[in-house]
Amino acid sequence: MRLLVCGGAGFIGSNFARLRVRDHGDEVVILDKLTYAGRKENLADVEHEFVHADIADAAKVREAMADVDAVVNFAAETHVDRSIAEPDAFVTTHAVGTYVLLEAARERSLRYLQVSTDEVYGSIAEGSFTEESPLQPSSPYSATKAGADLLVASYAETFGLETVICRGSNNYGPYQYPEKLIPLMVLNAFHGDKLPVYGDGMQVRNWLYVEDFGRGIGHVLEHGVPGEVYNVGGPDECPNLEVVRRIVALTGNDESIIEYVTDRPGHDRRYSLGSEKVRALGWEAQVRFDEGLEATVQWYKDNAAWWEPIRSGDYLEYYQRQYGTALGGCGG
Ligand code: NAD
Ligand code: TYD
Repeated sequence: MRLLVCGGAGFIGSNFARLRVRDHGDEVVILDKLTYAGRKENLADVEHEFVHADIADAAKVREAMADVDAVVNFAAETHVDRSIAEPDAFVTTHAVGTYVLLEAARERSLRYLQVSTDEVYGSIAEGSFTEESPLQPSSPYSATKAGADLLVASYAETFGLETVICRGSNNYGPYQYPEKLIPLMVLNAFHGDKLPVYGDGMQVRNWLYVEDFGRGIGHVLEHGVPGEVYNVGGPDECPNLEVVRRIVALTGNDESIIEYVTDRPGHDRRYSLGSEKVRALGWEAQVRFDEGLEATVQWYKDNAAWWEPIRSGDYLEYYQRQYGTALGGCGG
């Protein structure tokens, strides 16, 4: 297959592209705006064609879709804290960008997969969300992702476009930008910087290794029923504080580097996804959290050349703004 992978220079998109080229012999065209989170370095070992463009740019999007078999859209603003501080780009990329992709896919009747998130369902105290659960997003990030999902569904219903939606739970693994919990804590721990835990640290996330999500997305692209939504959840749930404690242990640190900081406004307490539907389609998560976390810490240890350029400049300014403290270990 020849795939157009939008947002393929980011964390999950680049892992997905690597997997599709390596394991399925696909050709990939990456279309990416290269925001702070998108990096060509993420694709250094992946054979691909590259289009530098915004998904809201109709002319470039149409041109990129001219000779592909299907479209997979990862392109998004993805950090909840940034959506609280500056929601603008979340609204334009998720609403206008998704609309432009859908229109271009409709012109060529292309199969279209939208990558979405469990956060569209909001928080759940007990049990797990199914695909039938109501959408109750809490943050500008999840609200605009939910809006994009609804727009995608409308193109299936109204225009008969072959769409599928994959809602993943919290991903972790190689190439994740260190604004998200796991890589942020790992890199801070390497440098002896404080590990900032929001609130009481008892918020629960459902952890999914990035390759498992990539395999799930590929599986739904090939076998999913048009018009359907598929939850793709990880095998394990874990409270944040426990995640951070495990990172402290894996990096040979002392728990005194953990620091409790002001909670995130509107912070969802627990995410939990039921994935029976995608399991019935033949997908299963392969990586348990303890094993995946250890491999992830090891990857960051082995790949300082990847994160060293990130952990400077704009990132240090972002960190200071977000946490009100400077990073000490790396030029901050
Ligand atoms: P990321 O922030 O690492 O990457 C996003 C990519 O999209 C970057 O390469 C960026 O340059 C690109 N991009 C942003 N705006 C763009 C635009 N307007 N036009 C073209 N490219 C643009 O994100 P990620 O963690 O890899 O997430 C990818 C997708 O998966 C997102 O849709 C996200 O909502 C979804 N998702 C993420 C998680 C997670 O835990 N990270 C879980 C479930 C679902
Ligand atoms: P994050 O990686 O931002 O993903 P999401 O908000 O999409 O789940 O955060 C995961 C959890 O970790 C979430 O409950 C917020 C918490 N968190 C912290 O406690 N400290 C931090 O510095 C960050 C970035 C997140």
